[in-house]
Amino acid sequence: MNQPRVLITGAHGQIGSVLTKSLRRRYGADNILATDIRDIHDPEGQFAQLDALDAKRLLDLIDTYRIDVVYHLAAILSAKGEQIPQQAWQINMDSLFNVLEAAKNKQLQLFFPSSIAVFGENTPRDDTPQETIMQPSTVYGISKLAGENWCQYYYLKYGVDVRSIRYPGIIGYQSLPGGGTTDYAVDIYHKAMLAEPFTCFLAPDMKLPMMYMDDAIRATIELMEAPINQIRVRTAYNLSGMCFSPQEQAQAIRKWKPDFSISYAPDFRQQIAASWPNSIDDSVAQQDWGWKPEYNLDRMTQEMLEQLKNKYQAQKA
Ligand code: SER
Repeated sequence: MNQPRVLITGAHGQIGSVLTKSLRRRYGADNILATDIRDIHDPEGQFAQLDALDAKRLLDLIDTYRIDVVYHLAAILSAKGEQIPQQAWQINMDSLFNVLEAAKNKQLQLFFPSSIAVFGENTPRDDTPQETIMQPSTVYGISKLAGENWCQYYYLKYGVDVRSIRYPGIIGYQSLPGGGTTDYAVDIYHKAMLAEPFTCFLAPDMKLPMMYMDDAIRATIELMEAPINQIRVRTAYNLSGMCFSPQEQAQAIRKWKPDFSISYAPDFRQQIAASWPNSIDDSVAQQDWGWKPEYNLDRMTQEMLEQLKNKYQAQKA
């Protein structure tokens, strides 16, 4: 079988950097083009600097590298978006239009990451259903909800095979998130590993849906490889991994790091988190393409601490 030729935008980001490595292993490094606005040399494979707002350069790269599939990960996240609302809207929407148009004109398959940020204050908080009230409270959430609907529009109107997931907060040891409301859940492990006290910007009982990076990457690739007749949702699929509060996460960490200390100083991000679900019903993704998470809080915590230990030791050596 011919391997797909893939272009990734935002390849230096939290998810992008890990997805790029996985796709290189899966399809062969020669079939993957990593792109990012930050021009950082990538020793492991092909890289091109790309501002996802530059439609012409995007099309040139698609032609030059004979691309079949685009994973469009470049975006401004929830917390940063609140500080630069109009710019965040422009970046998130214009870059999406660029990839949607490219997908339409060049018959590409497209992955668009949506988020639990599409939900809002009026959404049922527990086991949030696939179809429900959606009135997002952040610019990021509004852009993701509009994005989902544009994806569906391009599918219905032009037959673009675009697929999407509503990611919960993603936690991994390989990379750091930037500008999100769920970022604390990664930082907490770094502080625990360094035996430093951690100050959390969310309230102790602020439960949110989260997912371990391995599950998120596997979900993304499984969705993209699923037979086309199994994909019934063309907005974005709910996806659940686990859900916990900062307090519960700290308790899990103390099973391995009994001296870990946490304090709380909620800021504007607490209000954003409070408008998001506590937990997600992902039964539609389970039915349509067989989604099943593998990590719970304890298993993730153990692996995060182990992997970060190796990472910090390697840095010292
Ligand atoms: N992790 C993202 C954020 O916090 C949510 O999609 O903005």
